[in-house]
Amino acid sequence: MIRINENYLKLKASYLFSDIAKRVNAFTAANPDKPVIRLGIGDVTEPLPQACLEAFHAGVDEMAARATFKGYGPEQGYAFLREAIAKHDFQARGCAIAADEIFVSDGSKCDCGNIQEIFATEGIQLAIPDPVYPVYVDTNVMAGRTGANLDGRYKGITYLDSTPANGYVPAVPATASDLIYLCFPNNPTGAVATREQLAAWVAYAKANKAIILFDAAYEAFIQNPDIPHSIYEIPGADECAIEFRSFSKNAGFTGTRCAFTVVPKKLQAFDAAGNAHAVHPLWNRRHTTKFNGVSYPVQKAAAAVYTEAGQAQTKALVAFYMANAKLIKDTMTGLGYSCIGGDNAPYIWINTGTDSWAFFDKLLNEAQVVCTPGAGFGSCGEGHVRISAFNSRENVEKALARITAVLKK
Ligand code: MLT
Repeated sequence: MIRINENYLKLKASYLFSDIAKRVNAFTAANPDKPVIRLGIGDVTEPLPQACLEAFHAGVDEMAARATFKGYGPEQGYAFLREAIAKHDFQARGCAIAADEIFVSDGSKCDCGNIQEIFATEGIQLAIPDPVYPVYVDTNVMAGRTGANLDGRYKGITYLDSTPANGYVPAVPATASDLIYLCFPNNPTGAVATREQLAAWVAYAKANKAIILFDAAYEAFIQNPDIPHSIYEIPGADECAIEFRSFSKNAGFTGTRCAFTVVPKKLQAFDAAGNAHAVHPLWNRRHTTKFNGVSYPVQKAAAAVYTEAGQAQTKALVAFYMANAKLIKDTMTGLGYSCIGGDNAPYIWINTGTDSWAFFDKLLNEAQVVCTPGAGFGSCGEGHVRISAFNSRENVEKALARITAVLKK
């Protein structure tokens, strides 16, 4: 008799963004004459930067000629891309990250969901923020690292509450942890962590022989020059942290698919007997066994981000979405809501003080605008909604006019 992985039964029936899509689809089916504007899921709307597009086309053309055709590439990514990443994203910021510490992949969601496989399923303490990108929690539930979900929280997780009281940046817990998830600029709150705050996490991880899984998918949106873009800007982080990065949001690759994960060679984790093992070969083993690399034209397109033209064009793309973020934040603040995010992140986290699904339904039904209910990101998300800056200017302006008309009533 084939049996299921019963850990899946502990999960909520469907993924947050699938739940939202269902409600939105039901609304549009019932109201075909009321066009909906989507400021829910953080999906980009603007075309790929010209430099990426040209490199993408050139990559496709190379596949058309025997002399330049490529079959399987290196699973970890082509050297041209890994070297460009190491140089521009890390070495230029003083981080000693080498090209062979970078693993190119088809997405940060997959990487931050898969990474937990190389760690023990029993006997490790998880520390996960609340609210949080649901992938971190759900993949650990699937792997059996948690108990049941009681009142919205899984047993076995140390929740790091991000609330108005701590400016939505949790401090290190008083108890020990082994595997710590952090995301800055934060999804969903848009909060950023200062150098001092990150340094406290690095010190905590080192003291606990723990590993930080640092999701920096939104680093390109940081405007404040004092905010670190990488955890490796903190001395010693290469001994205790893995970092996830993505081309999805800075270069519009959500549909093109390219991301990368940094696993420093100095990083160690331990077996049951307490012997230290390098983590890099474990992730390399997992990656090469289960993944055959990102397609060549896509990697060419991603590498174009690092050309002079690519840098200017991705900067302009980020500035475009950040101007949307400012409009959203100014409007919601003007309506009397306390908001964070939107200054160094494409998300605005709005403290509505009301049931977040009810607020979501109100905006959907009365303004035909989709946001994301905070409760979907965890219990501390209750009383909040997230509005995403990823849309055209026209749609953002239209959505804000409709929201204003509804909320001013
Ligand atoms: C979000 O809306 O939280 C993001 O789009 C999720 C993701 O990048 O997978």
